[in-house]
Amino acid sequence: MRDIFEKIFGADSKPEKFFAPGRVNLIGEHTDHEGGFVFPCAIDSGIYALAARRPGKFLRLYSMNFDSEITSPFEISFDEIKEKFSERSWVNYPLGVASVLKSHGYNFDGGVDILYNGNLPGGAGLSSSAAIEVLTGKIFSELFDFNIDGVSLAKFSQEAENNFVGMNCGIMDQFAVSMGKKNHAILLNCSTLEYSYAPLELENYKIIITNSNVPHSLAGSEYNLRRQQCEAALADIKNVKKISCLCDLNFNELDEYSYSIKDSVNLKRARHAVSENARALRAYDALKAGDLDLFGRLMNASHVSLRDDYQVTVPELDTLAELAWSFPGVKGSRMTGGGFGGCTVSIVEKDSVEKFIAYLDKEYSKRTGRKATFYTISISDGARKII
Ligand code: GLA
Repeated sequence: MRDIFEKIFGADSKPEKFFAPGRVNLIGEHTDHEGGFVFPCAIDSGIYALAARRPGKFLRLYSMNFDSEITSPFEISFDEIKEKFSERSWVNYPLGVASVLKSHGYNFDGGVDILYNGNLPGGAGLSSSAAIEVLTGKIFSELFDFNIDGVSLAKFSQEAENNFVGMNCGIMDQFAVSMGKKNHAILLNCSTLEYSYAPLELENYKIIITNSNVPHSLAGSEYNLRRQQCEAALADIKNVKKISCLCDLNFNELDEYSYSIKDSVNLKRARHAVSENARALRAYDALKAGDLDLFGRLMNASHVSLRDDYQVTVPELDTLAELAWSFPGVKGSRMTGGGFGGCTVSIVEKDSVEKFIAYLDKEYSKRTGRKATFYTISISDGARKII
């Protein structure tokens, strides 16, 4: 990366090195935007950056993943950052973060060069977007002495994604990427942002991520639609019961007030949010009590709810989950992330990992005509400067 940095930006600065991880969510899917609990962790794949201050007011950006055909960086004055670009669209994530920080009064009193290089598969639902946002925020914070704490960094990054990029996501991804802790998952209450870390001591088990290689292209529009459906269900319930978000309700209460939800599809969406919220909390307790069997069954139930009530799986993800469920040595398996493609996460007995991968690899391509990709991951710390 240092050679490329010199080639693209010149040799007269000494760049510093940064890293932001991707994330995998163990359980608590599509609950963050409904004020519920999520249980993600940061992973050891992510995006690296080299960054250095420079004279002038220009922000210069170059990605080794997206710009390999181009030899010049994207260049813009901090004063000119106002709206999205359609070409080299990846730059919208860093620009969004700069724009949000400016709007919160942070003063960019100089220029900066950033070179990015990621090893996260794009479009796989492992939060490459959150990774580049939080990474850029961290770089700005360090190089301009903004001293932004991890939770604020997550909030600014989410704001960039919502208001600049135009994806109405919740806080989970940016929070996990910013606040991740080695060998721990984070239980996050998305209405209060209270969080606690739970040690992920899986001993004889491994976390395996399987990429369906179905790009989650519908994710943006369908994601926003699901959120609207949940909002409509919430508005209906509010006519008869005082709550501020769907996850204020437990399952019995939702049942009791379900008559107020006019549209049966919206009721299914609400049922997922409420039941998934309860599963996330139970799963956290199960893990703390060392009950991996229960944890796994809750993961499986989460997939079923995402398939039948929230309807964000695709046949390929269902196939991967079902194959995993039928394999001895698997505790649990479910789709992870926004859905409509992307990955599953499975808890697999260490000694069975090789056979598990071989079995899924063969059966998945036989049943879907597609090739799956497998990653054995470790749980990592959140975004950081590398010294
Ligand atoms: C995407 C969003 C998150 C979250 C998940 C689903 O990853 O960015 O905010 O809603 O989907 O749990």
